[in-house]
Amino acid sequence: MNDIKLEVNNISKTYVSSKGESFRALKDVNLQVKDREFVALLGPSGCGKTTLLKLIAGLIEPSSGEILLDGKKIRGPGANRGMVFQKYSLFPWLNVWENIEFGLRLNGMPKEKRYELVEHYIRLIGLMGFENAYPRELSGGMQQRVAIARTMVTNPEILLMDEPFGALDTQTRSLMQELLLDVWEKDNKTVLFVTHDVEEAIFLADTIYVSTAQPGTIKAKIDVRIPRPRTFETKTSRRFLKLNKQLREMIREESIKAIQSRKRSEKTPARNLNVMEIFRTAIYNLI
Ligand SMILES: Nc1ncnc2c1ncn2[C@@H]1O[C@H](COP(=O)(O)OP(=O)(O)OP(=O)(O)O)[C@@H](O)[C@H]1O
Ligand SMILES: [Mg+2]
Repeated sequence: MNDIKLEVNNISKTYVSSKGESFRALKDVNLQVKDREFVALLGPSGCGKTTLLKLIAGLIEPSSGEILLDGKKIRGPGANRGMVFQKYSLFPWLNVWENIEFGLRLNGMPKEKRYELVEHYIRLIGLMGFENAYPRELSGGMQQRVAIARTMVTNPEILLMDEPFGALDTQTRSLMQELLLDVWEKDNKTVLFVTHDVEEAIFLADTIYVSTAQPGTIKAKIDVRIPRPRTFETKTSRRFLKLNKQLREMIREESIKAIQSRKRSEKTPARNLNVMEIFRTAIYNLI
């Protein structure tokens, strides 16, 4: 049986600004995610991690190569993929319950079923008692928990997570990682998790793909081989420390290259604002 869920084949992406300047963000990226696997993509800032997730989400199109989900080519956004964005993306005018329920309402799910599901996820993310709170009344960690629940509740086949804990303090971040693993083990989802944090990648993933600095391409594939369930004690195990050292060296090399190439070119590419992309991003997970 072929248990490959997601296949990224020779993907390259060059952004072209309105002034005609081109910038190569990704070059010949290849990776695979198996059904129910937790895969991390690890790379320095600016190596194209968000770009790759947006391509998989169908928010933007590749310059060359193809992405297959269950063997079918991705041609646009779809309910089979759920994305948790790098920045908080809750609706400020809806409370916790309504934010999680929003997508289900849009899908026309009956009230009783919605109630059951939203309650289940609120329990799972430990936010009982906060159902009526608005995003501005929540801490960053709580907001990201709601964002994760809001994405998971619509039952996507694959969860795309873009540094969801990047803005949190170390302590909250580690608790959120444990919570995510707990939810993942209960829900059995396929996950592609993007991060530049080495420890986070090792702690969460079955497989880690390491990306080079710009243009991003895959430099190594690491089989984590640390038993589950993982706890905070995992972080002091021999295997964890060994991988930590190995991956830190790789990422350091790439970060230095990234800084040097920036110095050389002395120029940050102009971003072209694509209205369709902004609109699709805003309504993602709700369609
Ligand atoms: N719309 C755009 N137009 C032009 N260049 C872009 C656009 N979006 C991203 N880039 C460039 O592509 C490169 C990769 O960006 P991307 O956001 O994918 O990186 P990243 O790995 O997610 O970075 P970070 O870790 O900081 O989130 C960057 O150099 C960025 O400036
Ligand atoms: Mg990013």
